Amino acid sequence: MFPEKIALSDDDFTRVSRTVYDHCGINLKADKRELVQSRLAKLIRGSTFKCYSDYLDHVLSDSAQPDFVHFIDNLSTNLTSFFRESKHFDYLQQVLIPSLVSNAPSPERLRLRCWSAGCSSGEEPYSLAVTLAESIPSACRANVKILASDISSRMVRAAKEGCYPEKRLEGVASAIRTKYFESKAGTGERNFLARSELRKMLVFRQINLMQEWPVSSGIDFIFCRNVMIYFDKPTQERLVNRYYDVLSPGGMLFIGHSESLSGTKHRFNYIEPTIYQKK
Ligand SMILES: C[S@@+](CC[C@H](N)C(=O)[O-])C[C@H]1O[C@@H](n2cnc3c(N)ncnc32)[C@H](O)[C@@H]1O
Repeated sequence: MFPEKIALSDDDFTRVSRTVYDHCGINLKADKRELVQSRLAKLIRGSTFKCYSDYLDHVLSDSAQPDFVHFIDNLSTNLTSFFRESKHFDYLQQVLIPSLVSNAPSPERLRLRCWSAGCSSGEEPYSLAVTLAESIPSACRANVKILASDISSRMVRAAKEGCYPEKRLEGVASAIRTKYFESKAGTGERNFLARSELRKMLVFRQINLMQEWPVSSGIDFIFCRNVMIYFDKPTQERLVNRYYDVLSPGGMLFIGHSESLSGTKHRFNYIEPTIYQKK
């Protein structure tokens, strides 16, 4: 078995951090070295490679191969939860959704597009779907769509599956859990599966935010939370300006509570911490 304690050389750490930065914008600084080492050790343990260098020679030789995808998947952080940073969902319910609904030509002709960019295993887009379902009657939701995307195909698969162990839904009020998730009997812990009422609104895609997007305009709001924290300022700046371009006038960008656009050149109006609006 490959021992986790074998040290990753400076050269190998540099190869990893350069590749991850070039491919997905994630800036793995020196303080992430131990984390990188332990994640690589786990990957190598399941393979025939005897050292980091051989593994990296193989994996970095072709970014189209499944092992490269697996490597990137394992080096990104997927931590998430339902209704994480709940202030944003309150803002949606109290301010943004009522305003979007009142701007529609009629409630039945409501068209709404939102994007959970860096959705991880789906807790964020399902929380958005619940918030929209609680605010908009089902008869007016036919043209309400949430794009849920992540660079990790493994995360996108999990999000699409929409099945969560009871523990992950602990922060969700039980009335909401029953209304929007069905209990799935099985062995071990009880699981909850998102109901079709939520699924109808969701479109899942594997998207690398550093590359081309299948989205060009007309987005009403974007949640890109706890994603840019891993990017350096120039990468954040490029991304935020691309978000500006795909939002509709008045569209909003929500970022994570430990993130900020200060020091970034952008065109957004500041609304309140972590909430920005296109002019
Ligand atoms: C910490 S999670 C945040 C999940 C969710 N937005 C939240 O706030 O709970 C960060 C996610 O960003 C994704 N990510 C990192 N770099 C990305 C990139 N270049 N393109 C798309 N997604 C990326 C990761 O795969 C991960 O699932």
